Amino acid sequence: MSSSTALEANNARFNTEASEWDANKKHVETCNNAFEAIKRYVPAFADGSSKELDVLEIGCGTGLLSFALAPHVRSLVGVDTASGMLDAFNAKVASLASPASANLCAVNVLVQEADDVHIQGAAAALATRRGESGHDAPYRFDLVVSHLTLHHIPSMPDLLATLFQCLKPGGRIALTDYEDFGPEAVPFHPKKKREGVERHGIKKDEMVEIIDGTGFNEVRVEQAFVLRKEVEAEDGKPAREMEFPFLICLGQRS
Ligand SMILES: C[S@@+](CC[C@H](N)C(=O)[O-])C[C@H]1O[C@@H](n2cnc3c(N)ncnc32)[C@H](O)[C@@H]1O
Repeated sequence: MSSSTALEANNARFNTEASEWDANKKHVETCNNAFEAIKRYVPAFADGSSKELDVLEIGCGTGLLSFALAPHVRSLVGVDTASGMLDAFNAKVASLASPASANLCAVNVLVQEADDVHIQGAAAALATRRGESGHDAPYRFDLVVSHLTLHHIPSMPDLLATLFQCLKPGGRIALTDYEDFGPEAVPFHPKKKREGVERHGIKKDEMVEIIDGTGFNEVRVEQAFVLRKEVEAEDGKPAREMEFPFLICLGQRS
């Protein structure tokens, strides 16, 4: 399947699932786990400086992770390619007590370059909201996060190279997704949701090599948490509960 066909399949799937996304307890559980992992692994959350962070989130979806992070950081720009997921995100922004002063927003973009006009526009809008006037250089971020999205990305080296460019010097990545621990990882997605999935999880050694090869320092890829989830009957195996390890991929731009 070509990457544009896979993207279309993904967008169609997520547009359909968007309105029910947050009602799935497993979606909420993994995002809470990702949020807790980010707080454990990203130093700014431990040293009390997280309110200085400008965050970029790749594949923000309906904002389950974004809205957990937003109160703890200075700003958060989410990006996603599925308009239905972004409609759900925007409905949540609209329901805030003061939407016009929210420190987060989301844009529909396939991130391929740090200077993308949508990302730059979103970062500028949030900066204006917090009273900043003018910004000479393109906006860059202190932290890039992403949860359950890497397995949809066609070229991981290309994405990591873009994320590197999106960061300020000293900025970090903290990317979470389920681990490809072999053929047993395939049932994470039921058969009907596998179209558009680029890989059945991420591989620890492969991610270390790619992040390292991109030029990041302090590279670590570790198991951050485990999700127990029901998988469907397939290939003679019954429906059953399985444990899926999730990795957190870390690195710092010098
Ligand atoms: C499994 S969902 C996870 C959503 C959210 N992070 C969560 O955990 O609730 C994957 C999300 O990534 C988005 N996505 C897929 N490929 C993408 C890409 N190349 N760039 C940005 N978003 C993408 C999808 O539209 C979808 O919203």
